[in-house]
Amino acid sequence: MNKTEALELLEAKNQAHIMKGFDTLTAEKQAEFLAQIENINWGDFELIAGNEACENRGPFEVPAAVECAEIEARHDEFEAIGLEAIQKGEVAAVLLAGGMGTRLGFDLPKGCYNVGVTRELYIFECLINNLMKVVEKAGCFIPFYVMTSEKNDENTRKFFKEHNYFGYDESYVRFFIQDMACAVDYNGKLLLEESGRLATSPNGNGGWFASMVKAGLDKDLHKRGVKWINIFAVDNVLQQIADPVFVGATISGGFCCGSKVVRKVEPQEKLGLLCMENGHPSIVEYYEMDKDMAEACAADGSLLYKHGVILNYLFAVEKLEEIVNNNMMVHVVEKKIPYVNEAGENVSPTEPNGYKFELLVLDMIQMMDNNLAFEVVREKEFAPIKNLHGVDSVDSARELLKLNGIEL
Ligand code: UTP
Repeated sequence: MNKTEALELLEAKNQAHIMKGFDTLTAEKQAEFLAQIENINWGDFELIAGNEACENRGPFEVPAAVECAEIEARHDEFEAIGLEAIQKGEVAAVLLAGGMGTRLGFDLPKGCYNVGVTRELYIFECLINNLMKVVEKAGCFIPFYVMTSEKNDENTRKFFKEHNYFGYDESYVRFFIQDMACAVDYNGKLLLEESGRLATSPNGNGGWFASMVKAGLDKDLHKRGVKWINIFAVDNVLQQIADPVFVGATISGGFCCGSKVVRKVEPQEKLGLLCMENGHPSIVEYYEMDKDMAEACAADGSLLYKHGVILNYLFAVEKLEEIVNNNMMVHVVEKKIPYVNEAGENVSPTEPNGYKFELLVLDMIQMMDNNLAFEVVREKEFAPIKNLHGVDSVDSARELLKLNGIEL
């Protein structure tokens, strides 16, 4: 694409403002900028006016689940099956760490945040410590893949290296970079990061497997004989990774996918709920759910749709490879997007100022043939850090870490 073509296209799309100052750029920067413009996915822009209420969704049903009491009763049976798979090298873990963590407002990758109080204890370290418990039990390391974005890749790799992978065997660790997407203000106008460069951000956590394949890591999975991948969010410091009991329950039930869930504490709680929809597993976000569905009760009076997901899923690699090229829905998400204004000044907003376009892992669940809801005890496995203070914060996670006997 040359300058004239870019101008024509941008004028037609009402986005010509981004070409201001184009002629002052070096030839190299001009070429990079034109390539960015050529790659814009204009179809995403039409989604801005849409709303995501689930009027056309359903019918919903309650999904298959193993609840805490059954898991406790069958613990040893599930664990033995899971450990066997791990020992055969069939289970890998993927850490989703490409997000910007804007709500935390921390400059480095979120995993570099120190949750310690009297000592250093980083989020990445908490995760590795949790995984090491399984490594010790199984007597072998578990292939560990880390998804980063071009914004935090260098710092993430550096941090792991500087901390000697927190005792993990480096030969089992691989990093890969996810794709980026452009960002717009509330009027749908493209934002610039600097003159001649679009403001871009990671394209959500839903493209993780496609990004793994793009990085050639599917070959690594095959070489190692991996059949199951446990993906999980960076921000839950109590995250239990490659949990053999979870792996065993999913395998022994004949499922191609498993989701760790917690029990909702009240009907309107802000959790994505696991359901069945048209015979397929599906996640309904709290804002998509009407009052009737949120409050529906089972015969024993308990909530019918009671299991909220905590971004810890187990997928069969075979199924992931089958769906990797499927189109995924694009979500429009409000975020704080740093940008350069018309006067050429850098602006770092403290409140959301526009939209990003994201693929979400929850849409992958719908592509699965089945899914096991695996209930875990919230206080033991769910301590997400989204904010500095308040709900799902560093403060609340510290309390939960202490409750679980972890010295801070
Ligand atoms: P969040 O939904 O909390 O998004 O991510 P975020 O971008 O990290 O945080 P905020 O909203 O800006 O504060 C949930 C998980 O998905 C990963 C995150 O790193 C986290 O583990 N994620 C999110 C990605 O890996 N890539 C993305 O593009 C977005």
